[in-house]
Amino acid sequence: MGKKISVSSFAKRKAAGEKLVMITAYDAPGAAACAKAGIDMLLVGDSLAMTVLGYDNTLPATMEEMIHHTKAVRRGAPESFIVFDMPFMSYQVSMEQALTNAGRAMKESGADAVKLEGGAEFAPLVRRLVSAGIPVMPHIGLLPQHIQAVGGYKVTGRGDDAERLIADARAFEEAGAFALVLECISQEAARKITEAVSIPTIGIGSGADCSGQIQVFHDVIGMFDNFTPKHSRRYAEAGKIITSALASYAQDVKAGVFPGPENSF
Ligand code: KIV
Repeated sequence: MGKKISVSSFAKRKAAGEKLVMITAYDAPGAAACAKAGIDMLLVGDSLAMTVLGYDNTLPATMEEMIHHTKAVRRGAPESFIVFDMPFMSYQVSMEQALTNAGRAMKESGADAVKLEGGAEFAPLVRRLVSAGIPVMPHIGLLPQHIQAVGGYKVTGRGDDAERLIADARAFEEAGAFALVLECISQEAARKITEAVSIPTIGIGSGADCSGQIQVFHDVIGMFDNFTPKHSRRYAEAGKIITSALASYAQDVKAGVFPGPENSF
């Protein structure tokens, strides 16, 4: 396992032109595999609601569920830099509520930082959290927590929208954010944002010019056969491998060939 990367080293890595690798993780064995593979940062994403808990979108994830899974990720990857994704309505109601919940995330889960979705209107909150000692990674562009309001998952940053996103990025840098997630922002706008700020941009569906990339664990390992997002690449067919292993196990039990003498005492 590598030495844990620190918040202060992120901008240096960007300045040195070193790409940062981030992926979501939700449990101890998955996190351990990510650490072994040399992934720089883990995000316990609220995508937990979809990938692990079986919901249709990220909105149902709760603070308790996020803390529970982040603790497991920490146990699996004790040396990794772990970001806790603030779930829907855990930071939008008031500054006090956001501070309380982000504080819980840091104290109870073992996370190193928090992530929150939104634009420059959240810059004062980011400043407040940073001044309380909580590193923050804002998430701009496509905001999955806004899916009901926006009516779907749409690419952002085209035309005038690029200026708004650059302003968001600058406001967050100024407020003390250590990095930004750029989700489904046109490649050109993502490049401009990356050039406009000194903190790293971690893209998902935002092109190769970002300072690093993040993907969802289950998409990368090919867990689900019903959906592969355009921004992702399947590096394995884990879903098929798992189903085939389970079918062989079931077949062997039914045929009476498992357990064999070597499995018995
Ligand atoms: O929850 C999540 O997995 C995320 C990533 C898609 C960035 O927010």
